[in-house]
Amino acid sequence: MRKCRVHRMVLAAGLGSLLLVFFYFQSSLNPAAEDRILKTIWHGKSGRSPLQALYNNEEFEQSSLQAIHQRRRELLSSMCNRYTRKRRLLTPDDLRHLVVDDVHGLLYCYVPKVACTNWKRVLMVLTGQGKYQDPLEIPANEAHVSSNLRTLSEYSIPEINYRLRNYLKFIFVREPFERLVSAYRNKFTRSYNTAFHKRYGTKIIRRHRQDPSDEALEQGHDVRFEEFVYYLLDPQTQHEEPFNEHWERVHSLCHPCIIHYDVVGKYETLARDASYILRLVGADAGIKFPSSSKTTRTNDDMTAKFFQNISPFYQRRLFNLYKMDYLLFNYTVPSYLRIR
Ligand SMILES: *[C@@H]1O[C@H](CO)[C@@H](O)[C@H](O)[C@H]1NC(C)=O
Repeated sequence: MRKCRVHRMVLAAGLGSLLLVFFYFQSSLNPAAEDRILKTIWHGKSGRSPLQALYNNEEFEQSSLQAIHQRRRELLSSMCNRYTRKRRLLTPDDLRHLVVDDVHGLLYCYVPKVACTNWKRVLMVLTGQGKYQDPLEIPANEAHVSSNLRTLSEYSIPEINYRLRNYLKFIFVREPFERLVSAYRNKFTRSYNTAFHKRYGTKIIRRHRQDPSDEALEQGHDVRFEEFVYYLLDPQTQHEEPFNEHWERVHSLCHPCIIHYDVVGKYETLARDASYILRLVGADAGIKFPSSSKTTRTNDDMTAKFFQNISPFYQRRLFNLYKMDYLLFNYTVPSYLRIR
């Protein structure tokens, strides 16, 4: 009976994407195997998995928070219909950013510079079988060790298919230029980030600075924001290799028009949206999302200052580069831009 309800619910939620059809026909776990896995997903106090709690729970249905998240899903799906033409098929390699929690039935697409360290910590607690109690006891660098969490790309096609249908899929996004400036500040203005200076900084300076000093060419330690913007807009950059994940668009990292995310969280309402997800997981998980009170966090005013030195011509081109992230996640054109 439960299984029947789950199926109805999944259909009702409009999750039948091309991708699912594709995986479904390619191969599928047999129903008995699916049932077995479904029973092993942790069901909270209410006896529901997080996905069931989201779409089936009367208690949640009434809340305004529920309505906000439903509107976000609808907006995302209507923007996808309007702006994406061809729906290409996903390969397992496209699923490298989806972190899997097989205990609770969660899929989280991590986006760097959008609280992803804290989400990885939380997922390590959730999947750690009691190894950790508090997310903050996990050092930040430990949270990024790839063997500590599994990603969906590591599973077989039927296993991927099964998880996409039955797990709660969520993502956290942020105002695109604020995220970009945050990435720039973190990777290019901190003296300790020598790996990024060597790997990207030296190249950026070589290509986009006139008369660079030998020291700058050697160390790549003093990339200016304008130079970083020229690098992003240079066709050669993406021709050579995909953008680094810190400045790659969410649209390209998480494929939100193919994978139908159940919850779109926002950095702007991080605490509220994180606790919403943890409530869907089940309150007795007893986990608090770490609150960040960093005063040096990149905000709108700070972002505006970085864009002062960028000409309207480049502002417009950069906006076009990140336009899908603006459209899909309901961010408006920043008022500090001079592109009208
Ligand atoms: C989109 O953003 C506007 C203003 O920022 C807000 O009023 C509106 O509710 C948002 N829509 C959705 C679907 O989130």
